[in-house]
Amino acid sequence: MSFSLHRDPIVVRAPGRVNLLGEHTDYTGGLVLPMAIPFYTTARVSALNESQYVFRSAQFEGEYAEPVGGSATRYKAWHDYPVGVLRQLQERGVAPPSFLLELSGNVPLGAGLSSSASVEVASCLAMLALSGQALPANELALLCQRAENDFVGSPCGIMDQFVITAAHAGHALLISTRDLQFEHVPMNTGGLREISVVICNSHVKHSIAAGAYGERRKQLEVGQAVMRERFASLRDLGDATLEQLQACEASMSPESFKRCRHIITENARVRQAREAMLAGDAQALGKLMVAAHTSERDDFECSCEEIDFLVDTAIGLRGCFGARLTGGGFGGCTVNLVAREAVTEFCETLKDAYRTRFDVSAETYVCEAVDGALAEQERQA
Ligand code: GLA
Repeated sequence: MSFSLHRDPIVVRAPGRVNLLGEHTDYTGGLVLPMAIPFYTTARVSALNESQYVFRSAQFEGEYAEPVGGSATRYKAWHDYPVGVLRQLQERGVAPPSFLLELSGNVPLGAGLSSSASVEVASCLAMLALSGQALPANELALLCQRAENDFVGSPCGIMDQFVITAAHAGHALLISTRDLQFEHVPMNTGGLREISVVICNSHVKHSIAAGAYGERRKQLEVGQAVMRERFASLRDLGDATLEQLQACEASMSPESFKRCRHIITENARVRQAREAMLAGDAQALGKLMVAAHTSERDDFECSCEEIDFLVDTAIGLRGCFGARLTGGGFGGCTVNLVAREAVTEFCETLKDAYRTRFDVSAETYVCEAVDGALAEQERQA
C-alpha cells in the first residue's frame, strides 16, 4: 500500500549486544557485564497524513497497520515488538502522530545477540523523536522490557534493553539489575589491549519465548522465595551467599538448588571480572568465563551439545583466554577472548572443527564494544 508522507523521515539505530559475564542474573537482582556490538537495527519513521500507524520490516513479510488510538493485542508476529513499545508509550501518555515505521537491520536473529531488544529500543527512540519527546536511559530500557514482558509475552530481564540503550564505545557495562546502578568498565586496560572479543554463532536457534527460559526463571524464583523466608534480610538472590543456600538445600527441589547456586556463583564472578578488567588481566577474565560456562552447563543446564563443543574446542586453541555460552542459552552463540594476533587462525580452526563434527557452518564475528543507542544519538545531534 502507498501512503502520503508529510515530512522527512527520522532515522535512528540501536546495536545488538553480547554478554561477557553474568547470565540469568538479571531477573533476581544480580549483576551483568555485557557490551554493545556493531550489529544494528535501523528504525526509519515518517509522519503520515492518514490517521494510521503502519509497521514494515525489511526482514519479514507483510505490513501491519492500525488506526491511531487502536488497542489491538498480540499477533505472535514480528510487529509485536514495535507495537508493544507503542502500547507502553501510549500508557505513559505519549501519543505519536500518525506514522510509517520501517525497520531493517543485521543483528543475527534468534542467536542470543538481542535482536529483539535492539528492535524495541530503535522503535522506541524513533517514536519518541517523532513525538518530540525523550526519556532517560533507565526509563527507556524499562519501557522496552515491559513491552517484551507484557505484550510479546517473553519473560526477559532488563540486561539487553539497558545495555543497548546506555553502553559506551570501548567499554563493557556493569549493571546492578536491582536498582539499575551502572558503571562503564574500560576494555583497553593493560593486557586487554591485546585481546579481541570473538563471537561464534552455532546456528542452533534459541528462542527465549519458548518454555525453558520461563521454567528456569520459575525454579529460581521458588528457590529465592525459600531463601527469603529463612533469611528475612535477603532482598533477592543478589544478596545471597552459598552458605545461606546450603542451609536451605533440604527445603527446595534439586533443580531450584542448582539454579540458585549458578546465580550466587555467577554474581561473584561478575564482581571478580570487574576487578580483572580494571587490572587489565585477560587471563583472570578468561578463567572466569570458563568457570561461568561450567556453571551454565551443569547448574543452570542451559547449554547444548553444539555450544559445549564450541567452548571445549575454543579453550584448547592457541591465543584463547576463555570461552563460554552467551545470552539466554539452549543454542545461540559463544563469546571468546582471543589474543589479537591469533584471531584469524582461531576463527578458521574453530569453524573447521565445528563443520567436521556437526556438518554445519558456524560464523564468527570479531567485535569491538560500540556506543549504545543514546550515546550514538547524542553524537549525531
Ligand atoms: C536473555 C534475556 C536477558 C537475560 C539473558 C540471560 O537474553 O533477554 O534478560 O536474562 O537471556 O542472561
